[in-house]
This record gives sequence, C-alpha cells and structure tokens, in this order.
Amino acid sequence: MKRFRTFRKDQVTRDRYADVTINVRDFIYPYFVVEGEGIVEPIPTMPGINRYSIDTLVKDVHEIKALGIDKVLLFGVVSDDVKDERGTAAYAEDNLISRTVRAIKQALPDTVVFTDVCLCEYTSHGHCGLLKERREPAVSGGVIQKIIDVDNDTTLPLLAEMAYQHAKAGADFVAPSAMMDGQVEAIKHRLSEAGLSTKVLAYSAKYASAFYGPFRDAADSAPSFGDRKTYQMDFRTHDQGLEEIEADIEEGADWTMVKPAMPYLDMIARAAERFHQVPLVAYQVSGEYAMVKAAAQAGFLDEQRVVYESLIAIKRAGAQYIITYYAKEYQQRWASI
Ligand code: PBG
Repeated sequence: MKRFRTFRKDQVTRDRYADVTINVRDFIYPYFVVEGEGIVEPIPTMPGINRYSIDTLVKDVHEIKALGIDKVLLFGVVSDDVKDERGTAAYAEDNLISRTVRAIKQALPDTVVFTDVCLCEYTSHGHCGLLKERREPAVSGGVIQKIIDVDNDTTLPLLAEMAYQHAKAGADFVAPSAMMDGQVEAIKHRLSEAGLSTKVLAYSAKYASAFYGPFRDAADSAPSFGDRKTYQMDFRTHDQGLEEIEADIEEGADWTMVKPAMPYLDMIARAAERFHQVPLVAYQVSGEYAMVKAAAQAGFLDEQRVVYESLIAIKRAGAQYIITYYAKEYQQRWASI
C-alpha cells in the first residue's frame, strides 16, 4: 500500500506538496472601453465588471497595478452610429483603442498592454470581418443558393491595419481574435513593414462557444444574423485545435491561446505538451465568469474556493497565463501576495 495520505495530513504538508500555484503575474485583466468621460457603467450580464471611459479606465489600471496586476487586454465598445459594414472605427487613425493605449502607457508605462484585434465590435452586422455573398448548390438538392458569409482574404488587410494602429500607439501585444485564416501572417507582415516589434498573441484555438454570451452584451458585438460557426472552431473536432496553433506559430505568433478555458482543459493540456516554443494563454471567458458569479450570488457555492480551484486547474492543465475577469477581485479579496 502506498501511503498517499501522508501528503495530505495537515495544511503545512499539503502546501509543501502543492506544485501548481497562482501568481499575480499569471493574470491578464480584460477591460471594455467606451467614448466619453467619467463613465463607469456596470455590465448587467457580468456583475463586478464595468465599461470605462479612458479617464476612469486609467484610474482603474492604477488600482490593479497596486494589486500587482500588470497585464491588461483592451476591447473597444462603440455606439451604433459609428458602426458600419466595414468596421471603419476599428482601424481609423486615432481610434478609441489607440487613444486608450496611449493614455495607459503615458500614466503607467510598465503596464503590458494587449489589444483585441477583431471587427465584430465595430461592424453594423456584428460579424468579425467583411461580408460577401457567394453562390453554391444547396446541400440538400442542386439548387443554387446565395449565402452571405465573412470573406477571409478581404478581411485580412483590415485586421492588419487595426493591429498596426494599435501597435503604433504603443501596444505591447496585438491579439487577433477574428479567426480568419492567415491573420497572424498578415499582421506580422504589416508590423514588420512598419518597423514595429509589437508581439502577436494569437487566439489560435478559439471555439464557436455559447460561453461568449455575456461578452456580446458587454461589447454589443452579437452578430445581427447567423452565427460565427464558419470562422470560429467547431468544438466537436479533436485535433484541429492543435493544427490551428501550429499554423499560427508557423505564421509567427509570439504567444498562443486556447479559448474558452474550463470546458477546454484537454486542449490546454495537449497544446502545452506539444508546443514548448511559445507561451500558452488560456481565456476564462465571460460565460465562465458569469456562471460562477451567478451561482455564488445565489449562495449555491463558495466563490473563493471555486475560483481558486478553477484557476489552479487551468494552470495545472499547462497554461502559463490566464485572461480572467476574476483577476482583480482575486487579488483584492483572496490572494495572499
Ligand atoms: C471578439 C471576441 C469575443 C471574445 C473575445 N474576443 C467574442 C466573440 O468571439 O464573439 C469573447 C470573450 C469572452 O466571452 O469573455 N471576436
């Protein structure tokens, strides 16, 4: 008989054998930015998370900095009247995110700033790229159908331009999440052409997930028709996530990502085992956050213990960094730094 219980006999002993830990440096904290001043607008689907205008956001970045969090991921939220079919506001000179990056870098230059690169928050139709009609025979019979879908190759230069604008403003990492084939290469090429050494965090294995629901309310980015299944990954595939990651690394991704996190721990583990050359990030997405929050607020579970366990599980699976809406609260309430 092996005496496993000797490893668990008291807290000190358990702590000695615990080889997976959470460090404040593991965290990347997401922010939603809006135009205006003095705005701190709570997001109903994500209790505890707000939309900020640039000025209040910078204040909050000071707060998280004091807690030890030094990495932020920025999402822009714009009003309907500036949205158009091409998502122009995403890559315009002096766009919302570029101004936010500059403000953060001016106030707190050591903050590591990541920017989300995707058109869905800026297009009138809410899709992640340019729409194009194509014609093809219906699966069920030979009739030619018109299908409106996101066009891969004409979207690439727009994503590259958006990344370039963010990089020019001082972003440390641009993070393409549109799931267009070739997006990492297109961005890398544009950045190197401009002589910028900004790094790319690729949302490589990003699944078409229902767990993004609360985010789409937060960012007002739900598609106005259809879904994202023609570009985000089908969660019923087993190896394709690894192929996506491999392709992104070949295209020059500096860091890579699996998203969502909790329901995809298998993919995190497989990616961590296979790819040692680049850091692996896991995104604990809005639905994962909202689920735990709602259950905790209803008194159904112990929030502190559930959050700690889920973060440890993501680290144990092999993620080096975790994007989580819980980062600030964890450091504020639960971490013993
Ligand atoms: C943009 C994007 C999304 C998320 C991150 N970047 C939404 C989506 O793909 O619909 C989701 C993040 C979250 O749910 O927390 N494409």
